[in-house]
Amino acid sequence: MAPWAAVVVWLLAESAWCASHLKFPSGFKFGAATSAYQVEGAWNTSGKTPSTWDTLTHNRPQLITDGSSGDVACDSYHQWKDDIQIASELGLDFYRFSISWPRLMPTSFPDEINEDGRRYYDNLINGLLDKGIEPIITMYHWDLPQRLQDHGGWSNPLIVEWFEEYARVLYKLFGDRVKNWVTINEPFTICTIGYAIGAFSSGVHDPEVGTYLCIKNVVMAHAKAWRLYDKEYRKQFKGRVGISHQLFYLHPTSEEDEEIASLAHEHYVRAYDFYGFNYYTSRKIRRRRDGESLGQLSPMRNIKELDAILEVDRGWDRAACFWFYVYPEGIRKLLSWVKNQYGDVEIVITENGYSTKPESGSNDYDRIKYYRDHLEQVLLAIHEDKVNITGYTAWSLIDNFEWNDGYTTKFGLYEVNFDDPNRQRTPRASAKYYKNVIQTNNIEI
Ligand code: NOJ
Repeated sequence: MAPWAAVVVWLLAESAWCASHLKFPSGFKFGAATSAYQVEGAWNTSGKTPSTWDTLTHNRPQLITDGSSGDVACDSYHQWKDDIQIASELGLDFYRFSISWPRLMPTSFPDEINEDGRRYYDNLINGLLDKGIEPIITMYHWDLPQRLQDHGGWSNPLIVEWFEEYARVLYKLFGDRVKNWVTINEPFTICTIGYAIGAFSSGVHDPEVGTYLCIKNVVMAHAKAWRLYDKEYRKQFKGRVGISHQLFYLHPTSEEDEEIASLAHEHYVRAYDFYGFNYYTSRKIRRRRDGESLGQLSPMRNIKELDAILEVDRGWDRAACFWFYVYPEGIRKLLSWVKNQYGDVEIVITENGYSTKPESGSNDYDRIKYYRDHLEQVLLAIHEDKVNITGYTAWSLIDNFEWNDGYTTKFGLYEVNFDDPNRQRTPRASAKYYKNVIQTNNIEI
């Protein structure tokens, strides 16, 4: 047995009960994900114009832990063949990546397609298909064209039309080969963290906009893109359009807090062919006591309105990001919550993964434990709770630019050498683990 496997066996022996007898149903798909700004680089070449993240990282580097940017990132714009190669090595059924809007439509006019951008995405899609890997495209993963932000971005109701036109371009260019689309990644993060906290790409700090206007426009933009596909492209291309929500499980602190926890989950929006589900972490929730202040989570406006307090359980393990507490049962509870709330909708887990510090290198046994424990909960949700889950996506295929954390936290199944001009990718222990899960349909080592 390889040394990495021996350590994992020891770690797993600690689990009191496991679902090792359970299997993922036939047809269940495994993938991994990235997003354009986090991996592509080539920020100002081949016709691309700036996105809001280019502007933020260049003008306010103090908001990024290491002052870095995605200017080069993993250089996937040039190293895309390596990305396909490792996706294939892992045996992925699908690879979820996003399109950079300002790369494909640098002027934001739908009739002005950037040929270099188009060629890049064509190559990526065709290269994946050649290896038998399905491309799943996220249309919008936070890198808004700066020129649209200059007109108000997600606070301008016109963005609903701009997004619809952008979606039309994507369906026309790639719809013959792409059958699963995610319109928008994490509306809640875009609006609440983007506007309500003001440290994210919009560059605007306005809680009212973040809580109401932005969310309304994001939901409308998604609905327009879905309807457009439904009316004009579904018959021809026979694909599906979903949206990815970021979900925190909010664990009631006591029986009395069950109602407030249920209300606090309510802000997650719907409309879709499949429900994209991003899960990383959980919080405990309870009613605010008389005289108690709301604390640092008050920008989450719905929590404030409910007069609730969010806390962490000090017993939960921590990952590298400051917000990241590990509670595997949270994923199962949330999956069941979605089923109870919205009926028997098809759920695709579009992100789940774990962050480490750079010094932990490629021996990422904590990440293996995280994946194993969460996959176990997914199995229990499928078999015990009868939740209709059809796919699971590891975040991320490779280390990348982790937004405000820069390169100080790592999510990759593959380690990227950011000192190497070619950004060499090397499999971590967790890559071997995940490959084994995909091959054997077994979450144990
Ligand atoms: C969700 C986001 O979609 C992704 O871009 C980010 O890297 C992960 N969370 C980890 O924070």
